[in-house]
Amino acid sequence: MAVLHNDTFLRALLKQPVDYTPVWLMRQAGRYLPEYRATRAKAGSFLELCHNTELATEVTLQPLERFKLDAAILFSDILTVPDAMGLGLHFVEGEGPRFTHPLQHEQDIVHLQVPDMSRLRYVFDAVSSIRQALNGRIPLIGFSGSPFTLACYMVEGGGSRDFRLLKTMLYQRPQLLHKILDINAQTVTAYLNEQIASGAQAVQIFDTWGGILSDAAFQEFDLFYLRQVVSGLQREADGRQVPVIVFTKGGGQWLEQLAALEVDALGVDWTVNLQQARQQVGQRVALQGNLDPLALFGNPESIACEVKRLLAGYGAGSGHVFNLGHGINQFTDPEMVKYVVDEVHRLSVGYHQN
Ligand code: CP3
Repeated sequence: MAVLHNDTFLRALLKQPVDYTPVWLMRQAGRYLPEYRATRAKAGSFLELCHNTELATEVTLQPLERFKLDAAILFSDILTVPDAMGLGLHFVEGEGPRFTHPLQHEQDIVHLQVPDMSRLRYVFDAVSSIRQALNGRIPLIGFSGSPFTLACYMVEGGGSRDFRLLKTMLYQRPQLLHKILDINAQTVTAYLNEQIASGAQAVQIFDTWGGILSDAAFQEFDLFYLRQVVSGLQREADGRQVPVIVFTKGGGQWLEQLAALEVDALGVDWTVNLQQARQQVGQRVALQGNLDPLALFGNPESIACEVKRLLAGYGAGSGHVFNLGHGINQFTDPEMVKYVVDEVHRLSVGYHQN
């Protein structure tokens, strides 16, 4: 394996000294880039793109050609996991993901099993291929959905406004939901470990829907299973630590409990005050975030102002990875992305004079 030329991202996650604040963006490869849309058309569809090693590698690298990003993220989707469990993932144009066989009745759930990891071989092949193509330029992030966030889609059969079906199960048949979450936790652990074995140098767990839960339900149905996953992860590869990031959207009120998981970093959405968050988590974890993705619809002056505010909020020293507070919007102007990345690099140097 090639030596890593830029390890700023990995160092910041481990709170080791850095020269500037590293930056990457959730959903950095995607529809806001015309070259992504062209490759997706060549592949036929989003899912075919995920299954095609060469084209998945191509789109992973596309944003790196335009912007000086400090990390690459595997091009795939969190819903590959329930698909491998036999739920039948497909995308309805303009409506997002759908499952042919959602988990709504006891008989759908009793037979649910940890899938054979060979069904996700195409993801691991993409990881090795991307790692090779990066050739040590910057680190590669692997990822998975959290057990709870995956369960949201598995029970609802797609996205939802109010998660009524999921919450009906949570309050009426909690043991059924626990069964799904237990299988998901085992699956996510094996899936991330296989990505790490294939070359992922850090992993992020996307807990996109944790924030819909009551405090009590968050502890029982989300945090508990995050802990199961994190405790089962392989934390070293090629003689280097593999940092783990957990991103709970809407999880600002649970930062202390999330920090008590044995993770290296917490992703935070844009509602969180970085200075307060840093005080709360102390030395335990690094923080990743948290520009409002829609701030990219401002102008250079307003964007520079937001970047300055976030860098000043975190303050001096290592432990901050700059990112958006959620995925990039598909109508974002790529010029504004370039501007943010360059501004983060330029303005952050002053916070790292060791
Ligand atoms: O960050 C990256 O560049 C890596 C790729 C990535 C995708 N999805 C590609 C994608 C990652 C890390 C994800 C994670 C993901 N997928 C999450 C968690 C993060 C989040 O955004 O909350 C979730 C909830 C999903 C499920 C999913 N996939 C939804 C709800 C949708 C439809 C909504 C939408 O934005 O279109 C997808 C599709 C999807 N995943 C696209 C991409 C680039 C768009 C598909 C297309 O090209 O038409």
